[in-house]
Amino acid sequence: MFLLILLALPAFGVDGFEVYKKYCSSCHTLHPPPLKAPPMSMVSYRVKLFYPKEEDFVRFVKEYIVNPSQEKGVCMPMTYRVFGVMPPVGRAMTEEEREAVARWLYRNF
Ligand code: HEC
Repeated sequence: MFLLILLALPAFGVDGFEVYKKYCSSCHTLHPPPLKAPPMSMVSYRVKLFYPKEEDFVRFVKEYIVNPSQEKGVCMPMTYRVFGVMPPVGRAMTEEEREAVARWLYRNF
């Protein structure tokens, strides 16, 4: 059983929560109150209104964090006025890290 778990681990790859802590938590808190950006729970809720299916949501988030812009963003207009547009933090991340954090964002809120 233990061996099975060990063998299965690489299949899960990068842990989305670890990626969040490393790359997103300096701006996005998990829940309100906000710090320098809307909290992750609210981002997840909002993006799901526009991209309810997991695959569409993941594709949007992965692309947004590499090339953010207000034109394609789905936050309320006030969000960009208060916080500005987020920087392209995804460019410094690996494909696995972007995938993991996007799925974590979908599944954990
Ligand atoms: C330097 C601060 C900062 C960091 C770091 C940051 N964000 Fe953001 N993020 C923002 C701000 C500000 C907004 C609101 C404006 C916007 O949407 O661009 C935002 C909005 C978002 C949105 C909503 C996009 C939209 O407009 O529809 C998503 C999704 C998101 N962030 C994901 C992430 C993820 C995932 C990470 C970590 C990999 C991350 N952010 C790291 C500042 C940041």
